[in-house]
Amino acid sequence: MKKNRISKNWINKHRRDIYVRRSKVDGYRSRAAYKLMEIDEKFKILKNGISVIDLGAAPGSWSQYLSKKIKNSKIVSIDLKQMEAINNTIQILGDFTEEKNQSKIKEFFKSNVDVVLSDMAVNTTGNKNIDSIYTGELCMEAMLFSKKILNNDGKFVSKIFMGSTFNEIIAKAKLIFKKVKVFKPKSSKKDSKESFIICESLR
Ligand SMILES: C[S@@+](CC[C@H](N)C(=O)[O-])C[C@H]1O[C@@H](n2cnc3c(N)ncnc32)[C@H](O)[C@@H]1O
Repeated sequence: MKKNRISKNWINKHRRDIYVRRSKVDGYRSRAAYKLMEIDEKFKILKNGISVIDLGAAPGSWSQYLSKKIKNSKIVSIDLKQMEAINNTIQILGDFTEEKNQSKIKEFFKSNVDVVLSDMAVNTTGNKNIDSIYTGELCMEAMLFSKKILNNDGKFVSKIFMGSTFNEIIAKAKLIFKKVKVFKPKSSKKDSKESFIICESLR
């Protein structure tokens, strides 16, 4: 009974959510698009002609935004889950942390890239601490991968959860990048521990 009430509350909240309604009008597959839009507006991440990797891309709203916003660009989107095709993007189905998938990404670009984005998150367990630890591990993996594949002035943007791994991730980011900022977009739910780390220029 409790579970039913919780899921009904969730559905009602979701329907009232302004970003959910906006995403339907704008044709985005998820409200997450507005988080990338806000990050891009504030930090000017995306420019025509750049090469971008979208990690944890499904259902695809970040990649849809990339595909609309930047012209003459190379975009690779990867996720564990199958996604419907998106114009001007190459999709890889698989686990980003596996060597074979990282090699596929490198083979496609054949040189370093300008931007790595990660909105990767694990399936929630219901325990916010455990969720933040697992998502922190994904953020760390994405950051180490960025270190290998980014141009010297490249940018790395990743979801990060406020939690026990937060300080460790920020400290590591500051060792790898010259500029590190943390930003919570308005479209990120207030009651979520989610924020984003915006890193620029390799040391
Ligand atoms: C919050 S969703 C991303 C939403 C997406 N940015 C959008 O705009 O539609 C997080 C995604 O991370 C993916 N993910 C989690 N671990 C992953 C991994 N190891 N490799 C690839 N994708 C992963 C999940 O499958 C999930 O689709």
